[in-house]
Amino acid sequence: MTNLDLYAKAEHLLGIEEATEALYDLYRSELDDKDIKTLLDVGCGRGGFMTRMISDGVECKGVDLSSVMVDECRAEGLDAECIDVSEVTGKYDGVVAIFDVLNFLNQDELIKFLDAISDKLNDNGIFIADINTLYGFSDVAEGTMSSENEKEFLSVDALFEDDELYTKFTLFAKDKDDRYIKYQDTIVQYFHKIKTFQKLSGLKLVDKQTFSLYDTEDKTLLIFKKR
Ligand SMILES: C[S@@+](CC[C@H](N)C(=O)[O-])C[C@H]1O[C@@H](n2cnc3c(N)ncnc32)[C@H](O)[C@@H]1O
Repeated sequence: MTNLDLYAKAEHLLGIEEATEALYDLYRSELDDKDIKTLLDVGCGRGGFMTRMISDGVECKGVDLSSVMVDECRAEGLDAECIDVSEVTGKYDGVVAIFDVLNFLNQDELIKFLDAISDKLNDNGIFIADINTLYGFSDVAEGTMSSENEKEFLSVDALFEDDELYTKFTLFAKDKDDRYIKYQDTIVQYFHKIKTFQKLSGLKLVDKQTFSLYDTEDKTLLIFKKR
């Protein structure tokens, strides 16, 4: 199992449903007046945002590097593939990368990822993504938590150091014989400065808004147009 698949198996124990809904509402309101007919959701997770956009009449495609996430999308009848964004065929009116997706990429990976996104946008296309602020990493993400239900126990231990967040996930999940199986892995997330996004060859940063998902200014929404 990859570290992203472990995240996928543990996500429902993290208590982020409310924050996810708030983010979806924000993205939907940004896309509302942009005449988006086709949308690519990169890092689509379980496909919750695509489901909402499809109900708004938008044709959606999702990609995610976790096959666990993609299988869940497909089980819901969504068009999703476990491929890198550079392998996507076709062009879209809008592309989104919702809830920390850009923070999963280091600086080099980020630049390649953003180039690939520019390539998937139609002329005048729009790309929207969110990133964690320094407060988002140090005040919200760093620290420990645990959560459990009858079948699973999750512990999360996150340390933010030198602009990198190391989050160790330990999940105990019961198998069909009621025996606990232990899964453990670490996900690294990277802080990105705004200036990184101001000098891209394929995308022009047209707006940025810092906002609070929790009780501090923890996230910045970035809105780009294809150059
Ligand atoms: C915090 S989850 C958010 C999922 C979804 N966007 C949502 O809002 O519910 C981040 C997702 O990004 C995916 N991911 C991380 N790096 C990726 C990459 N380079 N390309 C595509 N997906 C990626 C992970 O597998 C995970 O599903």
